[in-house]
Amino acid sequence: MADRLEEARALSRALSADLLARIRREVARLDRAPVLAVVQSSGDAASSYAAGRRKAGAEAGVRVESTSLPEGGSAAAERVIVGLSEDPEIAAVLIETPVAPALREAQLRSALAPAKDAEGLSAFNYGRLFSARRWEEVEEGAFPVPPTALAIAALARGCGVELKGIAALVAGRSNAVGKPAAHLLSLLGATVTIAHSQTRDLPTLCSRAELLVACAGKPEFVDAAWVRKGAVVIDAGVNVRGGSLVGDVAPDAADRAAFMTPVPGGVGPLTTAHLLHNVLLLKKLQAHPLRK
Ligand SMILES: NC(=O)c1ccc[n+]([C@@H]2O[C@H](COP(=O)([O-])OP(=O)(O)OC[C@H]3O[C@@H](n4cnc5c(N)ncnc54)[C@H](OP(=O)(O)O)[C@@H]3O)[C@@H](O)[C@H]2O)c1
Repeated sequence: MADRLEEARALSRALSADLLARIRREVARLDRAPVLAVVQSSGDAASSYAAGRRKAGAEAGVRVESTSLPEGGSAAAERVIVGLSEDPEIAAVLIETPVAPALREAQLRSALAPAKDAEGLSAFNYGRLFSARRWEEVEEGAFPVPPTALAIAALARGCGVELKGIAALVAGRSNAVGKPAAHLLSLLGATVTIAHSQTRDLPTLCSRAELLVACAGKPEFVDAAWVRKGAVVIDAGVNVRGGSLVGDVAPDAADRAAFMTPVPGGVGPLTTAHLLHNVLLLKKLQAHPLRK
């Protein structure tokens, strides 16, 4: 089990290091370091990611700055996001979730200019992603793509299995993770089933999946016995339990899997690297608006 998880950890580390080094080389050619503004509204677990982002940002040459949204309700918060969208010093903005209960996430997102959209979740960028009918259109498309979905796709591509025709199950259908991950895997040739909170008999669906992506945000809810022998398992869940981080899949599923990503140390670091790559991409597009 430890070997399987270690192998995936090493793949995530290598892919992340490679991407961060590529970003750093490109940043070195720019006049100034790109700045990512992280907008926070609730002080809770959201920021289990913050330290990793700062460290990776330093490695890639991207400045990561945090901004707290005012408590005065949605209109005041939207004004802050519009201000960041218009600020030429800011390359990209990330709206940290969950947002505070008093604010509406959809409204905050619509206040963010697509040109500053670090996570590729604005209607414009999301529409470009879902208009793509081939993987190359995403790779060459010069628009930001939700970074967790990119990390999931990169790990699936990098683990050495043939993705064309593979039976994949994505457990979760959020806009940020499950839905775009399912779309990217489909572009890579997988035949994808999407499960969600109303799905019946998840154990049977899991047992048929040659590639299982868990992104429901439920601590270790995928039992090891559900996992097909020899499957590829990508665990995108990040859950705080008893003060530590656990994934969506029971770790002993690694005994049955051919490849399984650990939590922490699997999807997370590579997500951060793809997020920073989106920041660089947006910075370059801002310098050449006609390429948008
Ligand atoms: N590794 C990373 O870098 C990274 C980045 C972002 C998020 N995450 C983690 O990924 C997980 C998911 O995040 P999210 O933002 O996508 O969460 P989310 O918005 O809460 O979405 C969860 C999804 O899981 C589905 N779901 C709930 N119960 C299920 C069940 N029993 N079986 C199958 N699907 C079920 C929900 O279905 P409905 O649509 O029916 O409600 C929903 O689509 C969280 O643990 C989060 O922390 C990790």
